[in-house]
Amino acid sequence: MFRRMPIFMLLTMALLSACSEHQNTDADVVPEAQKAEEASVLGEHEISEPANASLQAMDVAKDYHSFSNPEQIAVTHISLDLNVDFTKKVLTGSAMLDVERGDQNATTIVLDTKGLSIHSVSANGSSVPFELGKADSFLGAPLAIELPLGVTSFKVEYTTSPDASGLQWLTPAQTAGGKHPFLFSQAQAIHARSFIPLQDTPQARVTYDATLRTPKELLAVMSASNEPNAERDGVYEFTMPQAVPSYLIALAVGDLQFKSMGERTGVYAEPELLESAAAEFADTESMLIETEKRYGPYSWDRYDLLILPPSFPFGGMENPRLSFITPTVIAGDKSLVSLIAHELAHSWSGNTVTNATWRDLWLNEGFTTYLTYRIMEIVYGTDRYNMEAVLGYEDLEEDMQRLDSQDEILAIDLRGRDPDDVFSNVPYEKGALFLRELEQQVGRDNFDRFLTQYFEKFAFQSITTDEFLAYLDSTLLVDHADKLDKARIQQWVFEPGVPDNPPLAESNAFAMVDAARAQWLSGELAASDIDTQSWVVHQWLYFLNNLPETLSVEQLAQLDAAFDLTASKNNEIAHSWLLMSVRNWYEPALPRLREYLVSIGRNKLVKPLYRELSKTERGKALGRAAFEKAKPGYHPLTVKANEGFVE
Ligand code: BES
Ligand code: ZN
Repeated sequence: MFRRMPIFMLLTMALLSACSEHQNTDADVVPEAQKAEEASVLGEHEISEPANASLQAMDVAKDYHSFSNPEQIAVTHISLDLNVDFTKKVLTGSAMLDVERGDQNATTIVLDTKGLSIHSVSANGSSVPFELGKADSFLGAPLAIELPLGVTSFKVEYTTSPDASGLQWLTPAQTAGGKHPFLFSQAQAIHARSFIPLQDTPQARVTYDATLRTPKELLAVMSASNEPNAERDGVYEFTMPQAVPSYLIALAVGDLQFKSMGERTGVYAEPELLESAAAEFADTESMLIETEKRYGPYSWDRYDLLILPPSFPFGGMENPRLSFITPTVIAGDKSLVSLIAHELAHSWSGNTVTNATWRDLWLNEGFTTYLTYRIMEIVYGTDRYNMEAVLGYEDLEEDMQRLDSQDEILAIDLRGRDPDDVFSNVPYEKGALFLRELEQQVGRDNFDRFLTQYFEKFAFQSITTDEFLAYLDSTLLVDHADKLDKARIQQWVFEPGVPDNPPLAESNAFAMVDAARAQWLSGELAASDIDTQSWVVHQWLYFLNNLPETLSVEQLAQLDAAFDLTASKNNEIAHSWLLMSVRNWYEPALPRLREYLVSIGRNKLVKPLYRELSKTERGKALGRAAFEKAKPGYHPLTVKANEGFVE
């Protein structure tokens, strides 16, 4: 349908089709008359097989978060040459894109961009016509390019915006070393377009190579082949020979050093953090070996970690060959390393088999969370598995109290919504629980065999929820027809909430914590007499997270005196304690709260605190002051996720 149409029409259509039902911020993007006319053109293409009645008009295979048209012309390889300018906070240079036509007559390719200045587009040395459409608030702007038939490669010269949503530029003061600036990208879900003009949809996979030009004293790394001993000459080259979806393209630049942790694993970090990170994550190699034993060979060559500054907005990000990791999990006792198991597991579920659209995110995150629990059990034992599974389910329950029922559906309808706004534990923990139920129904070994075959069958492909269900139908449901119930599977995937009697974990180690908590609350036992000698971090989290919402300041003071919780160096324990402290306005913890909010930008740790603070006037005042102070150091995503709480 993109053939022989003027570019402005194409842009309008791309915009219409990606934004259908999305309230555009630019009211005048598409004139009403044109909308009606083009809706009919689009209509022909909306052949959908609704998975259930409520999805009537949805095309489940369509990515509603991209303007691109890979089914007509697909980008197959990207070659980047970018200068990293810390003074202007921009990347500037070129992207050379190789294409293959699915539609032999197609001459217009539409790319996604967000905040990019496009200087020129050329093919074989001569410029080609292009047009940048109007920008949508979160989808960015479509870039339509006229590619004469026969042209299979073109070059876009561009510069990013200093406030690109997918990049964070840190000053030296915001790093561990304090001497050098730092840059990192975070592309998932739809931010790759803010630093590369590309088809920003998980349905399109590309190989890539890149040259990054940086200040001489810094090292650049990417989600690609890295050279730890590269001469620090300010020019770094990368190749990624395996095709990846756009959200897995990643880069970082800083004063980085490398330390090996095993044959295929190692860690990149600022020198100040290198040793502690390598010690904390020393089990990474065993995790890799164990995961391969169960789920088939690791497809990505090396598995390294990159430790980011504390403003990294996530716990971790599964960038292939080089997971990006928050420093907030370096606890000194490996208590929070399930994060590493999680990012590693994505090498199978996510990076090898990829969600086709953001509606299908649970295929990435639910499978990965299921695998995380399994890896943790193999490497650290069943007690730890049980504790982590109980805590995970409690996180899900807490989210479900807050969420609209529509957002409790695994195959969530994201049309017209910013994926960043919908982030919750549902795709993670509900997805994992669903798979655990399947496992229990068919038996662990059978289920592991099923997963291994699934990873093999869909390797290097993107699949929808509906394709997964069809696969399940033709495999497990055939082999174990007597044990599985199709209606219940539909309920797990398409209904809110959790079906009755889900396979919940139980932990003996938590039973004694429950007993101690109850005795303390009833006044039978003084805080200082609770025997916590042998408690591990998970038990502390369980103790704190299950205290009554309301406690007296006196009670909090007793706990604090006995266990020094305000001073806890474990960022998860501190988080739970600070949340309690805000709820009950325990003033001695408030200076620590301010410091915490200003020094950490990981959204999962700060957002619940800002949310809680926003509930009272004095809380809001504190939140506002902390946010103002912290904002210059926060990642754009953390700013966006929390600014509503401090208005
Ligand atoms: N891929 C996710 C992070 C993500 C998901 C970014 C969706 C943007 C959109 C990553 O693997 C992840 O799940 N991180 C979690 C880890 C945790 C569940 C162990 C996080 O950052 O909290
Ligand atoms: Zn994940």
